[in-house]
Amino acid sequence: MSAPTIDQSSVAQERRLVTALPGPRSVELMARKQAAVAAGVGTTMPVFAARAGGGIVVDVDGNHLIDLGSGIAVTTVGSSAPRVVAAVQQQVAEFTHTCFMVTPYESYVAVAEALNRLTPGDHEKRTALFNSGAEAVENAVKIARTATGRPAVAVFDHAYHGRTNLTMAMTAKVMPYKHGFGPFASEVYRAPLSYPFRDGLDGPTAAARALDLLEKQVGADNLAALVIEPIQGEGGFIVPAPGFLPALAAWCRAHGVVFVADEVQTGFARTGDLFACEREGVVPDLVVSAKGIAGGLPLSAVTGRAELMDAAHAGGLGGTYGGNPLACAAALAAIETIEADGLVQRARDVEDLLLTRLRALQAVDPRIGDVRGRGAMVAVELVRPGGTEPDPALARAVAAAAHAEGVIVLTCGTHGNVLRFLPPLAISDALLHEAFDVVERAFAASDTTAG
Ligand SMILES: Cc1ncc(COP(=O)(O)O)c(C=O)c1O
Repeated sequence: MSAPTIDQSSVAQERRLVTALPGPRSVELMARKQAAVAAGVGTTMPVFAARAGGGIVVDVDGNHLIDLGSGIAVTTVGSSAPRVVAAVQQQVAEFTHTCFMVTPYESYVAVAEALNRLTPGDHEKRTALFNSGAEAVENAVKIARTATGRPAVAVFDHAYHGRTNLTMAMTAKVMPYKHGFGPFASEVYRAPLSYPFRDGLDGPTAAARALDLLEKQVGADNLAALVIEPIQGEGGFIVPAPGFLPALAAWCRAHGVVFVADEVQTGFARTGDLFACEREGVVPDLVVSAKGIAGGLPLSAVTGRAELMDAAHAGGLGGTYGGNPLACAAALAAIETIEADGLVQRARDVEDLLLTRLRALQAVDPRIGDVRGRGAMVAVELVRPGGTEPDPALARAVAAAAHAEGVIVLTCGTHGNVLRFLPPLAISDALLHEAFDVVERAFAASDTTAG
């Protein structure tokens, strides 16, 4: 009667290479990609996916790869997670789109209710839904500007907020995200971050340094919003020193500046809390979520104080696809999965395993300058032995060696010298251990000190 439910267990949970990577079918498809797809759209691996589930991505040649990337922190509940598959299958048969701004539907409201319940703080909240993380960040800025009547936005060194025009201005790193794409939006100001490995400052001192700059160079009265990732993602999985976020939030409160937590990468159990801000009891005025929210379907949200969210006039927020019914059905199923399967705790268990493995490696390898992160969002920063000079060549070499052995790992960081690990929470401990055996061998095989 209905379409067969895709059974995740049909994806064997084992690393298995049946060809060299990339295999012949991937090579064929990559040639077609090069002829058909804009060159600016790059890929981490030249390997095409055929299916995925649990902790495994199966490629078009039948290779089974261990997934330590989750499609950049998206498939937190797993790819094709059973509840998500069932909910989307049902929804796709009922209706695919009406546009919430034309004839609304219940699932959008239910997602808003869930986000109002789950985001930090028990004040009255409202939510608006969008498609991508960048779009939601832009809308958070729109909301903050209209609510405060102020123009300026503060962001931080190493920040990543997206690739649209305003979010390019908010993103720090020029290559590849901004180079040649200007001019950028105005009234965006950058402050120094807390980066314990590199600045050695405690949180309150680092916050005082950032706030002093903003007060002198922008002025609190001109600032609509301060936008920050509680743990920076693309910038290098930088965990600020304790006290940094609370000090920024307190200053925002004192000066009527809207404190916006960009939890696009850190949200939805990824860091061992539902939202990363919770760890230090920080209650943002606005929370931006995306990625892990909907098990792989495109959905993003701004959730925050009712008086701020309701400041925009009717029709001022929205978009054709924002809160699409398939994405909303997926989000409700993903949220149910996180809650029913105890995935916040699972992220903490994954953190223990990852940090234990990486610290053991650091103890014998001076090229690992720092091990950091929380939950299933953990990274190593690679340096020249004996100092802190970034070593991006080593990060590239280790990633390439892991890829060749069938483990998907990603790099990040302003200097490109950070290896980041973002496994889906549906992965088994056995696969994680196997993946880190591969990573260990990749470090041993990657001697870049000669060049
Ligand atoms: C913290 C953060 N904000 C915003 C974005 C942009 O999200 P999207 O790629 O969905 O536009 C990302 C994406 O990586 C992100 O990590």
